[in-house]
Amino acid sequence: MRKIIIAPSILGCDQGQLAMEALKLQNAGADMIHLDVMDGVFVPVLTVGADIAACIARKVDIPVDAHLMVDKPAALIDSFAAAGCRYITVHVEVTSHLDRLLQRIRESGAGAGVAINPATPIDFLQWVAPAVDLVLIMTVNPGYGGQKHLEYVHSKIPAIRRILDDSGGEKALISIDGGVTDSNAGRLISLGVDILVSGSFITGADDPAEAIQRLRKVSMISLDGE
Ligand code: DX5
Ligand code: ZN
Repeated sequence: MRKIIIAPSILGCDQGQLAMEALKLQNAGADMIHLDVMDGVFVPVLTVGADIAACIARKVDIPVDAHLMVDKPAALIDSFAAAGCRYITVHVEVTSHLDRLLQRIRESGAGAGVAINPATPIDFLQWVAPAVDLVLIMTVNPGYGGQKHLEYVHSKIPAIRRILDDSGGEKALISIDGGVTDSNAGRLISLGVDILVSGSFITGADDPAEAIQRLRKVSMISLDGE
């Protein structure tokens, strides 16, 4: 059976205590920490850099995925890899040299992730699939937590699964990010998603551990139906 990874985004957590917040989420049952890195250029908001990523990665035992919503990711790869991020995910929309960028991420020792905005076509993926370890499908326009989940993006999921399977490379993971809750997680899993990134549904809940359990439960039900 496939393993589903639940990856809380810590964007909505107390920004002064991100490492502690990440540890709490690990103790609440999270499988991975999703760190939203924003530069105030690619998206309007400015968040954290590699030093904070290092504090988080030192504090938790589970992997950290750095989602780089930045205009110039190349200069940041080595510092986020040195910070201990297991995956470094860059947006396809910011680069004319995706293949080179993905290679540089793997050379840094991290897994290479590519993120795709809702309105971005996916055909480029067939050319880089063997160089990719994680595909992050955005179901909101990046920049903020708590936005409405865009269902029209769902048709990309099986199409991306096919491209990855046909590539014959190492099996890359499909991650989904934006408005993920227990009411859409089951459908997302049945379409082929491996990683559920979820921000406000988990960190805005009275009991984040219960929210994680709910996501896990609907995931299991969906996998049982396969
Ligand atoms: C949006 C970020 C997401 C966001 C998810 O730009 O990439 O990771 O924090 O939060 P929710 O689940 O609230 O949409
Ligand atoms: Zn994100």
